[in-house]
Order: sequence, then structure tokens, then C-alpha cells
Amino acid sequence: MAEVTVPEGGFLPAPEIPQPNIFPIEWRVETAKLAAIYEKAKRAVWNPADLPWDELDPAAFTPEQRLGVMYWFSVLANFDASGPAVFARATVHAFEKHQEDPVRKCFFSITRDEMNHEECCQRAITRLWPGGPLDWKPVTDLERAAHNNIAWLYHNGGRYWNGYSAALGRYTLPVLFTSFMMGEMAASTLFRGMAAATRHRLFAEMFRRIGRDESRHLQICMTILEKEWPGLTDEVKGVITRQLRAGFVFLSMILWEPPDEFWDLPPYFLANHRVLIDHARDAGLGVLDHDRQAENWRQAMAKVRAIVERWGIEFPAIPELDIDGVKVDVTDPEDIIPVF
Ligand SMILES: [Fe+2]
Ligand SMILES: [Fe+2]
Repeated sequence: MAEVTVPEGGFLPAPEIPQPNIFPIEWRVETAKLAAIYEKAKRAVWNPADLPWDELDPAAFTPEQRLGVMYWFSVLANFDASGPAVFARATVHAFEKHQEDPVRKCFFSITRDEMNHEECCQRAITRLWPGGPLDWKPVTDLERAAHNNIAWLYHNGGRYWNGYSAALGRYTLPVLFTSFMMGEMAASTLFRGMAAATRHRLFAEMFRRIGRDESRHLQICMTILEKEWPGLTDEVKGVITRQLRAGFVFLSMILWEPPDEFWDLPPYFLANHRVLIDHARDAGLGVLDHDRQAENWRQAMAKVRAIVERWGIEFPAIPELDIDGVKVDVTDPEDIIPVF
């Protein structure tokens, strides 16, 4: 074996790598619990293609029901189908910021899960409504209303994506994760409720699995936050309060109904949205009625409130659900972080 070269004047120090950068490579572990969750996540993988798709027979529904179910999944896709890109970007960000290894790996596993949730939207939509969500020609008024609403919805999804991409680097970890936590709390609540309410085995199985993933995401967020929350400055606490209101505003579109803030929608959107969601409900998808949705949402937020108040973070006022707190306005897309 040849000898290595030892330079006469000593080894030259390699240049310092300007940060943020994904290099140098390292595997620092600070939170063993997070590493354990990642191990569990790897064993919990499932394949959306294995769900009983042949039981989803388009002919078993009226055209209005098919449209309604397609519409609901198109609304869900605003959140769950943006998940892979949102968390992939967050994963890269975590590498560049040299977060400990389990944080990066947990982000990656959330990205993986969200790709499954996105695939569920894709399969449900294309099976019931070829060309959906938008690549089809509406003929009836109901179809025109659905197509137009979905286009407006994705206009808002696009604003959210631009804001998120621009602001990601500006938010500190606790702010980012409180927002994610809100999204995961909402998602696990939504899917638990719908898994119990749906009349179809396929949807029950799908919602149960997605709900289980979302609960794990919630656990990941909580584990990271327990480490990050102690020692927050009042300024960061204020930003978190604002983010919680942003979470309510954004997520209400799928959990309940969109409030006036942030959403840029035509005046007829909500009335048509209600009709279309009613058709999805009628099809047995498992969408809860308006009051039960509100009650579920209120309970999910009570849980978030109990968690953040333990760390001296004030909760925002949600007058829509009779929740009192700090008055906050959310209009800027850059304020919106939460995803599913
Ligand atoms: Fe999630
Ligand atoms: Fe998801």
C-alpha cells in the first residue's frame, strides 16, 4: 500500500463553506425521541395503489354526486397535494440550516407520506372525473360552477405557494413548526371524523390511513416544539399567535368554510361551494354537516390552545367559532404557512 502524501508545510485547511449550505455532511442527533419516530414511520409505510379502488364504481353515483366527490378531493388537494412540495422544500431548508439529523429525516418522511395523500386525491379524482380537477369541459351549470370554483381555489393555492416559498427562510423553527402543528392537528381531526362517517369501505380505509399519518406528523411537530418552545422571546410568541390565526383562516376551507380574510374569491364562490359539498355528502363521502364540522374544528383548536398557552403563547381570537383571544388580521399570503 502506498503512503499518503504529507505536505512539507503541513496540510492546507479547506476553505470554510459559506452557509446556508447542505455541506458539510454530518449526522448530529440531539433528540433521540425524534429518531425513534422516524424508525416507526419507516415501518408504517403503505401503498395507496393497494386500496380497494375497484370498489369505487363511477356508475354507482349520480353525475352530481360524482362531481361533488371530485370537487371535495380537489379542495383537499389544495392542501394535501401541495404537501409534497411544501415539505420537500422544508426538508432542503432543514439540510441547509444544519438541523439535527432526525429533524431532516422526519421532514423527509412527512414528504413521503404527503406524496401518498396526494396520490389518493389523484386516484379518486381521475377515477370519478377523467380530466379532473381542471382539464375537462364543463357543460351544465353545476359543472361550470365546480370548474370555476376549483380554478379560483387554485389561484389562492398559488398565492399561498409563492408566499410560503418567499417567507420560508425568514421564519424561525418554532414559528414554522407551530404552523405545521396546527395543520397536522386539523388534518388528523378531519380524517378521524370522516373515516367514521363515510359509507364507503375505500374511503374509510383511505381516511383511516391518512389520519394515522397525520397523527404521526403531529407527534413529530410536538416533539420538535417541546425542544424549541422554552425560552421564546415575546416577539416570536407574537408571531406565533398571528400564525395560529393564519392557520385557522387557511385550513377552514377544508375543515369548515373559508372566512373573508386572505381568500381571494368571487362573491358566488361560497354558495356554489355549499351546493357541491352537499352533493359529496349525499354520495356518502363522509363530509360532516356544517355544525359538526364547526364543533370538530372548535375542539381541535381548543387542543392547540391548551398546548401553546402552556408556553405563554397567546391564542388569537376566532370570533367565527366564538373563541376569544388576541385580535389578529391575516391578509398577506406570506403570513400563511400551515399545510396538511
Ligand atoms: Fe401531514
Ligand atoms: Fe397529508
